[in-house]
Amino acid sequence: MEKLAAHCEVRLHEGPLPPTREALLRGVVGCTGILSLLSDRIDAEVMDAAGPQLKVISNFAVGYNNIDVMAARQRGIAVGNTPDVLTDATADIAVALALAVARRMKEAAHDARNGKWMTWEPLGWIGHDLHGKTVGIVGMGRIGTATAKRLHGGWQMSVLYTSRRAKPEVDRQLDAQLVTLDKLLEQADIVSLHVPLTEQTRHLIGANELELMKPSAILVNTSRGEIIDQEALTEALREKQIFGAGLDVTTPEPLPADHPLYDLPNCIILPHIGSATQRARNAMAERAAENILAGIEGKPLPWPVD
Ligand code: NAP
Ligand code: GLV
Repeated sequence: MEKLAAHCEVRLHEGPLPPTREALLRGVVGCTGILSLLSDRIDAEVMDAAGPQLKVISNFAVGYNNIDVMAARQRGIAVGNTPDVLTDATADIAVALALAVARRMKEAAHDARNGKWMTWEPLGWIGHDLHGKTVGIVGMGRIGTATAKRLHGGWQMSVLYTSRRAKPEVDRQLDAQLVTLDKLLEQADIVSLHVPLTEQTRHLIGANELELMKPSAILVNTSRGEIIDQEALTEALREKQIFGAGLDVTTPEPLPADHPLYDLPNCIILPHIGSATQRARNAMAERAAENILAGIEGKPLPWPVD
């Protein structure tokens, strides 16, 4: 805010909740730049409501599925995001979810709090080791690679992955193997999702894919909720078709408090906190502001989306 206020007049949507659609459409009128959150849908209607002087949309996030990039391109509006600076924080959450589900932390903590911790039990709360197992990374980009590095280096896990292109550097460093999605699902003990949400990735993991996974496998999602068919996942977890799931993202967000996924002991849900560290969020703010300032001056954005 300080950086922006030094160079331009800033119109801020106040309050803890996103603007309503009406407030968003009203609020952008006459703006040269829009700094959006991932909860704001910035489509052609919003761009046209802003007016022809709109030059830049800067998302305070690396994912930009909330922005109609094609509509922006058609109107000559630059679009930027905040890559890299949240990679470590988000990969840490992916690993934390994998460990928490593997070691049944939700059940164990709940039982401890609710008087079910009677003694040290040789057979109590038995989970799975990660050491020496196989991780399947769906989308070997920045966060996928950082997650694979942690699990390979820290837990000596073998790495399988899918991506649009092979990653020879990652193959070399992590002894990783590019495979088909089916093979990854059949062989991985942890399946971790890191693809952006696009028309190709929406519901990439549905009932058929869950069926391919091992009964002992764990699904981790820190990308976007819509990558998973959530109804199929709820059923698979209920039926113990897979061991568990760790979700930092859901459909919708927030997930209503009465959603059945919350009641499943083998499912841990976080409120989309992948990048929620002081360092990551400060650096995201810097990048989002720098994108806006460059765009307003008609310069190339330092962090444009692809
Ligand atoms: P990235 O570096 O662009 O990585 C995405 C990877 O997905 C790319 O390597 C790309 O493959 C691959 N991919 C794209 N479409 C694919 C497809 N149809 N099939 C297989 N692979 C595909 O992005 P990132 O920085 O790692 O971020 C990834 C996503 O994480 C973001 O888009 C966002 O939705 C999410 N995210 C969530 C949080 C959170 O708080 N939970 C935080 C940050 C990001 P190629 O390289 O082969 O083209
Ligand atoms: C968070 O989800 C991001 O895309 O930065």
